[in-house]
Amino acid sequence: MDFDFTTFPVLETERLTLRALNLEDTKAIFGLRTNKEVNEFIDRRTPKNLSEARAFIDLITKLAANNKGVFWVLESKNNHQLLGTIGLRNFEDEEDYAEIGYEIHPDYQERGYMNEAFEEILQYGFKEMSLKTIEAFTHKNNTASKALLEKHAFVFQPERTDEGFVNNIVYRLAVSGS
Ligand SMILES: CC(C)(COP(=O)(O)OP(=O)(O)OC[C@H]1O[C@@H](n2cnc3c(N)ncnc32)[C@H](O)[C@@H]1OP(=O)(O)O)[C@@H](O)C(=O)NCCC(=O)NCCS
Repeated sequence: MDFDFTTFPVLETERLTLRALNLEDTKAIFGLRTNKEVNEFIDRRTPKNLSEARAFIDLITKLAANNKGVFWVLESKNNHQLLGTIGLRNFEDEEDYAEIGYEIHPDYQERGYMNEAFEEILQYGFKEMSLKTIEAFTHKNNTASKALLEKHAFVFQPERTDEGFVNNIVYRLAVSGS
């Protein structure tokens, strides 16, 4: 898989601009990644201060520059707020494979925003990046995440596990024939 995100793929949905993360997002990304509700089912290192949030943004920017991952901000067209994020990473060349990750601030949940972002990003992944398989790793009790995945035709993979994360389950969406 030969990706090139050096020109960042800005995408649009009805209500959202899906754009690159940048340092002007530091406060918003700090708020999102330290939010207790957002983190309820996510086992990850959270930023302790704005400087760590900036370091996270640098890391994400480098991932895209090295074509190792692509991470979009969900920005409201209406008020230009950062509502959440969605990304593809952990590419595996031989299998045309990527993992999807996503989060949205509780103030904006259950309004269909992630549905909108998913439609656009899945289309981008399968059509523009020619992926054949996208997987999601999610906590077994994460009802919202599981509903979102099932709505977008991801299929639960009972035989798959997420090494080191015993409470996670795996969902897969594959183009037919793979
Ligand atoms: C999972 C998450 C991204 C969903 O985003 P969202 O914008 O609220 O989702 P949407 O409003 O687009 O809804 C998507 C579907 O999921 C369902 N859904 C959303 N929240 C739900 C909830 N709390 N309980 C049950 N179903 C829910 C919706 O009903 C919808 O299906 P429908 O269109 O058939 O009604 C959001 O809850 C979130 O960010 N959670 C915290 C972070 C997280 O857990 N990320 C996943 C890590 S693997």
